[in-house]
Amino acid sequence: MEQFESFLNAHLPRAESFHPHYELSLQQMVQGGGKRFRPALLLAVVRAYNPLLIQGAYHAALAIELLHTYSLIHDDLPAMDNADLRRGLPTLHKTYNEVSAILAGDALNTYAFEVLSNAPFSDRVIVKLVRTLAHNGGVQGMVLGQAIDCYFEHQRLELEQVKMLHIHKTGKLIAASLQMGAFIVGRDDIAQELYEFGIDLGLLFQIQDDILDITQDEIQAGKTTNNDQAKNSFVTLLGYEKAMEEANVLAEKITLQMMRFDENLQCELSPTLIHYINRHKD
Ligand code: IPE
Ligand code: IPE
Ligand code: MG
Ligand code: MG
Ligand code: MG
Repeated sequence: MEQFESFLNAHLPRAESFHPHYELSLQQMVQGGGKRFRPALLLAVVRAYNPLLIQGAYHAALAIELLHTYSLIHDDLPAMDNADLRRGLPTLHKTYNEVSAILAGDALNTYAFEVLSNAPFSDRVIVKLVRTLAHNGGVQGMVLGQAIDCYFEHQRLELEQVKMLHIHKTGKLIAASLQMGAFIVGRDDIAQELYEFGIDLGLLFQIQDDILDITQDEIQAGKTTNNDQAKNSFVTLLGYEKAMEEANVLAEKITLQMMRFDENLQCELSPTLIHYINRHKD
């Protein structure tokens, strides 16, 4: 992931102007502190099937990270989760103001697609990647999840509805990361299987995030925690014990699913997955 980080630093959004902090506000949240979980998944698929394409794949991995970072910047705004800390830094609206944070999110969202369009792949593959990222990040993906999350604050949802919300706000972008990896290496035959695996993985990732909201302090998490009381989080809905049980069952299922992948893919995915599958127990 070191090379990906260098690529990211070399492709930060740039816009010189007489605005005192515009460029910095775009770069700040992208630059450090993120776990880079989604890029790691995409790159693992590419390494498993065609390592020669890894350099080109950095474009796609960065595009996902940019879109994800925009979602975090907006998620932290006072109108949404009203959080003060993100990736170990004050949130952008705290450092600057709400306008700067809204615009930084807007800029990263579109910049994601600019970076993706510059990937050294055929037009056909690029269009497929753009469609996948847009579909899972936007109208029927992450944004829908965030809309449901925010609208139903202070209103209890059913467990199935909370799963649907988690799958959209978090699962779809994680599933898209794996699927985009498959498209890059021309393995469209396994794209759907990887997508479905990613939906389960993303659901687990968000249940864990809900658990970590109550078990970690803001120093450990690098972001504001203890912030989900009014939310339809797994912990507020089920309580800590049951949320842990749910995470354990899903972690088990994902481990079994993983064993059905071919050896190369298992090999490339496991360093990332082993670390994350059990992170709720940390
Ligand atoms: C946080 O995502 C928001 C969720 C979707 C759970 P990450 O936990 O991947 O945040 P970073 O990228 O490491 O900052
Ligand atoms: C946000 O979920 C998921 C996004 C799409 C940004 P959370 O609100 O639980 O994420 P954190 O805990 O603030 O990182
Ligand atoms: Mg939120
Ligand atoms: Mg939040
Ligand atoms: Mg959270």
